[in-house]
Amino acid sequence: MQKIKEASTLPQAEFTSKSREETIAFGKHFSMELYPGDVVAFYGDLGSGKTTLIRGICTGLEVDEMVTSPTFTLINEYHGKFPVYHFDFYRLASEMDLHDLGVEEYFNGDGICLIEWPEVVHDLLPENKIGIHLKARFEPGWENKREIIIFNKRKDNKVRNDHFGNRNCDPNLQHSANRK
Ligand SMILES: Nc1ncnc2c1ncn2[C@@H]1O[C@H](COP(=O)(O)OP(=O)(O)OP(=O)(O)O)[C@@H](O)[C@H]1O
Ligand SMILES: [Mg+2]
Repeated sequence: MQKIKEASTLPQAEFTSKSREETIAFGKHFSMELYPGDVVAFYGDLGSGKTTLIRGICTGLEVDEMVTSPTFTLINEYHGKFPVYHFDFYRLASEMDLHDLGVEEYFNGDGICLIEWPEVVHDLLPENKIGIHLKARFEPGWENKREIIIFNKRKDNKVRNDHFGNRNCDPNLQHSANRK
């Protein structure tokens, strides 16, 4: 995994997921913190669970469309409670693609941007964002576990609905909280 760039910022929340389902439940829970204009950068190796977590977040945001890594298209647009833009820059071929896509307009726009492989576009990312680091460990017993560490670098640095933490992350979690 890429060295944690936010090392000087304290993590806002840490959670160890024990299964794919728990990661999805965590994403659903965490989605209640997100509002239009938020940018979330997902750091982690291949297979660390970025898309899985994004699937949970999108479920929480009431996205009905299929959520898959936009590896070749660079961007998927979903229509949930808010507009959601899902990026995957793993196979970014050229800076030209970024220009054609107008990424900065998305990053500074009114949708929610969820970005896989954000390190590829590091210089274009806004400071005002949330960073989520996912980590798998190659140790016995860790096959289905993932560490999830969240750094909140949003401008106001506020946790809005108290959904950064790891409480109530069982897979049967129901959405009950109302957004303000
Ligand atoms: N606790 C867990 N959380 C998330 N995924 C898990 C967990 N345990 C096992 N897995 C498996 O790990 C894989 C994660 O794949 P996923 O596509 O989400 O990774 P990714 O980080 O998006 O990879 P890529 O960089 O290739 O896009 C899936 O096959 C999933 O079933
Ligand atoms: Mg992915």
